Amino acid sequence: MSNAFAHVLEPVKLGSLELRNRVVMVPMGTEMGDHHGHLTDREIAYYAERSAGAGLVCTGINAVTDDYEVINEGLGRVDTDAAIPGLTRLAEAFHARGGAVSVQLTAGLGRNINNIDPERLPISASDNPHWLDPNVKCRPLATDEIKVIVQRFKEAAERCYKAGIDAIDIHGHTGYVIDQFLSPAWNRREDEYGGSVENRCRFAAEIIRAVKEGAPGLPVSFRLSVDHHFEGGRTPAESLEIAKQLEAAGLDLLMIDEGSYEAMDYVFPPYYLGDNCMMGSVRMFKENLGIPVLGCGNLTPERAESAIATGEMDFAGIGRALIADPEWALKLAEGRREDIRPCIRCNQLCVGNAFVGKALGCAVNPVVGLELERRELAPVEQPKRVAIVGAGPAGLEAARVAALRGHTVDVYEKSQQLGGVLWPAATPEFKKELRSMIFWWERQLAKLPVNIHLGTEISADSPELADADQVILATGSTPLVPPIPGLDGDNVIDVIDAHLGAELGKRIVVCGGGLSGADFALEMAEKGHSVTMVEMKDGIAEDLLMINRITLLRDLAAQNVTLITGRRVTEVDATGVKVEGPDGPVHIAADTVINAFGVRPATALVEALAGRDNVVAVGDCVQPAKVGDAINAGFEAALAV
Ligand SMILES: Cc1cc2nc3c(=O)[nH]c(=O)nc-3n(C[C@H](O)[C@H](O)[C@H](O)COP(=O)(O)OP(=O)(O)OC[C@H]3O[C@@H](n4cnc5c(N)ncnc54)[C@H](O)[C@@H]3O)c2cc1C
Ligand SMILES: Cc1cc2nc3c(=O)[nH]c(=O)nc-3n(C[C@H](O)[C@H](O)[C@H](O)COP(=O)(O)O)c2cc1C
Ligand code: SF4
Repeated sequence: MSNAFAHVLEPVKLGSLELRNRVVMVPMGTEMGDHHGHLTDREIAYYAERSAGAGLVCTGINAVTDDYEVINEGLGRVDTDAAIPGLTRLAEAFHARGGAVSVQLTAGLGRNINNIDPERLPISASDNPHWLDPNVKCRPLATDEIKVIVQRFKEAAERCYKAGIDAIDIHGHTGYVIDQFLSPAWNRREDEYGGSVENRCRFAAEIIRAVKEGAPGLPVSFRLSVDHHFEGGRTPAESLEIAKQLEAAGLDLLMIDEGSYEAMDYVFPPYYLGDNCMMGSVRMFKENLGIPVLGCGNLTPERAESAIATGEMDFAGIGRALIADPEWALKLAEGRREDIRPCIRCNQLCVGNAFVGKALGCAVNPVVGLELERRELAPVEQPKRVAIVGAGPAGLEAARVAALRGHTVDVYEKSQQLGGVLWPAATPEFKKELRSMIFWWERQLAKLPVNIHLGTEISADSPELADADQVILATGSTPLVPPIPGLDGDNVIDVIDAHLGAELGKRIVVCGGGLSGADFALEMAEKGHSVTMVEMKDGIAEDLLMINRITLLRDLAAQNVTLITGRRVTEVDATGVKVEGPDGPVHIAADTVINAFGVRPATALVEALAGRDNVVAVGDCVQPAKVGDAINAGFEAALAV
């Protein structure tokens, strides 16, 4: 029977490099290198684990020089021969598995740099303001400095070549240094590196040629943000002219993406942006270029397949989905599409970790970064009877891992379905990946010796706990109901009940502006309700990662959701909500008032069983947080049994 993803999975040549399929893991920094910026065994294991999931795996960025810009701690670097042993081990790990690996090289961050060194101004094409601090003006690179950087690319490529690396990617996107030369938004030079398209592309073209010289025969790809998504930024039509110049310089593969630091959500597209969010102009590039083209961004296997089958693109660029499931392509090849663990596009522990200098993790895959140990699969010598109370993300992940390790597992859930709070949380279409997670656990648990008991509420003296060697409590949370007069009124609905289909009036006031309230407000506004949010703090969804928040706030504004911040709800009456702020009380009319004040841990069972040495509690019943925290805690608890 032919495979539904036959085009994605077809073996292909990139230049002279033979790849087992058309899936490319796009570059993603790991923060797993050593303090010299060189590859560690842990990082190599993480990458190599993904060789089954993609025909070609790209590393995250590696600096080629610190001549003019400080290389931040955590960034990879290929600027000296000391990088070669690590690169060699990386190449060997891939080749031993029949895979191929590409190293991404960067000219630096320039105006995007995060640590501004007063001694060394950020470099750029022109005297651009730093993206965050407009008072800091960048130092335009001198012509001889440009030549030095080009030479450093050649040297870095030589190192990759010596190490046996299969391909090289040039980090040309997202408004980093190379992009600062490409775009008239940042390039106002009057020498041969500025002005015409050809001149603005000269730096990039010289880099492509230098890399080809340093690494003869290796295919070279280039990442180009074809739409910067800000006023004055680059459009796809302008990007096409650039792509033609890069092709003329000898490029082998154009890797298309979108965004900039001005529109950072496109760089790490959160769930709000939806499926296949950067595919808009891929076909235009394919039709106007002779070289292969790659598209990426929340790409689904189905869209990847149709795009390749219809000649819209040549390669499927997969990023976070391959963090979440290293066997992405393997599972497609084995006809197990439904077994692919969904990336929930939360950015929580991948980008979120990188932003605070922590090694890459994953909300849905706690093995990320721990591939060397492959801990979850280690079978136990003495299997135990494990009772798990609560079938939310924490309980389900604990059940999966405990069963994988050979324990006998019973899951007790008081409701009639698996998923816990994920179920109501996932009603908006933009959160459908959370629903996919529930289905994924259902499928995985069905294959394992896990007994699921729905409609079974457990109390401290329940006989179900008596025989268990280990009890894992994952009882989640209960809604927080602050002592506000009128909050028990008929017109007030808890956010979870509201998600689950309670009847709502036209005018809705959401009390509480955290993530759950904000997502609900957006969902309702999209359905045509007139929505107001009231939040005591100065900002909406301050518990949300900055990148995701960018899209959320933009979408709330686009849906005309009224945001009232810095004001406290003091009373609810039959006609609406009274709020109090620095400028006095205001009444907001509403047909329905939503209690989204948050949740508190459901501790009844935890407290009743306190002191028993075979009981642990995980997830929201310990501390309400995010899905990723619950999953990772469930995983750890099962690992400890
Ligand atoms: C509206 C809403 C939206 C959210 N959106 C997001 C989001 O977009 N991203 C994100 O990361 N996080 C989100 N969260 C938070 C996230 O859903 C929780 O952190 C996560 O579900 C916690 O998982 P858990 O397994 O600890 O608890 P829960 O998901 O609450 O599961 C607990 C389970 O235990 C069961 N249970 C309780 N007591 C007993 C008992 N005595 N016997 C048997 N069963 C019992 C419950 O019925 C429930 O099924 C949201 C939360 C809410 C409320
Ligand atoms: C944790 C993380 C690190 C990233 N680091 C890089 C990088 O080093 N170089 C790069 O070109 N893109 C980087 N990106 C962007 C990705 O390559 C990709 O464009 C983005 O994740 C969208 O693809 P996806 O939806 O398939 O994840 C990174 C993305 C993530 C999530
Ligand atoms: S942390 Fe979230 S966004 Fe990042 S890979 Fe994991 S599931 Fe996907």
